Amino acid sequence: MFVVLLGPPGAGKGTQAQRIAEATKLLHISTGDMFRENVKNETELGKLAKTFMDRGELVPDEVTIRMLLERIGRPGAAAGVMFDGFPRNVVQAQALDDALAARGNRIDRALLISVPDEELLARLGGRWICRDCGHLYHERNDPPKTAGKCDHCGGELYQREDDRPEVVQTRLDKQKPPAALIDHYRAAGSLREIDGQRSLDAVTASLLEAIG
Ligand code: AP5
Repeated sequence: MFVVLLGPPGAGKGTQAQRIAEATKLLHISTGDMFRENVKNETELGKLAKTFMDRGELVPDEVTIRMLLERIGRPGAAAGVMFDGFPRNVVQAQALDDALAARGNRIDRALLISVPDEELLARLGGRWICRDCGHLYHERNDPPKTAGKCDHCGGELYQREDDRPEVVQTRLDKQKPPAALIDHYRAAGSLREIDGQRSLDAVTASLLEAIG
């Protein structure tokens, strides 16, 4: 099964992708995590991506699509994938459709998580992430047992550079899923819309139900 998670920055895509991947054993592929890994390792791709990420803008399609296609060409991605943060527009969606079609697969479900802007601002401002295992926390909604420390692996928690208020506003202005992308999956019959302004468990249950 191949699933895409759509939603604005802070909607809960990463949090829910981690939970669903654990429950379904789908491989979780996050283009945001891939870019952050490249930034951390100071690769050429990371240096380029950082110039866009720091401004709250999307990394150019050509670069993003090449990275994603290379990733899904590797072993482990054949049985099923949960895509988190990809695609962001119709060009990326079409490239993914074409790549999957070439191996006899397709996107089975596109799950759109909706959350109002004021809640997104609060979520991104309070997000903390484990440096070692990537587990996501929120200082108010889903805090770790010990402040600054991951419950799962004991790693140090940090806040993302692009969660600064001035960058968050640009991300919310420029990075909501465009109507054409939503229409792309509606036309294919794979779109399911999920109310993301509920508890973590309620959203997970709705997503799992939509996946079937
Ligand atoms: P990316 O990492 O994908 O960022 P994003 O889309 O902005 O999404 P976020 O990771 O900020 O939010 P999320 O929806 O995953 O929410 P989360 O689960 O963390 O991309 C980063 C950058 O990389 C982009 O800006 C762009 O430059 C580049 N990039 C990536 N993909 C690209 C692409 N395809 N094309 C071009 N460029 C690309 O949750 C947020 C917080 O809320 C957490 O603290 C969490 O604990 C909390 N929370 C979650 N759910 C709930 C709930 N139900 N109730 C209460 N709190 C909740």
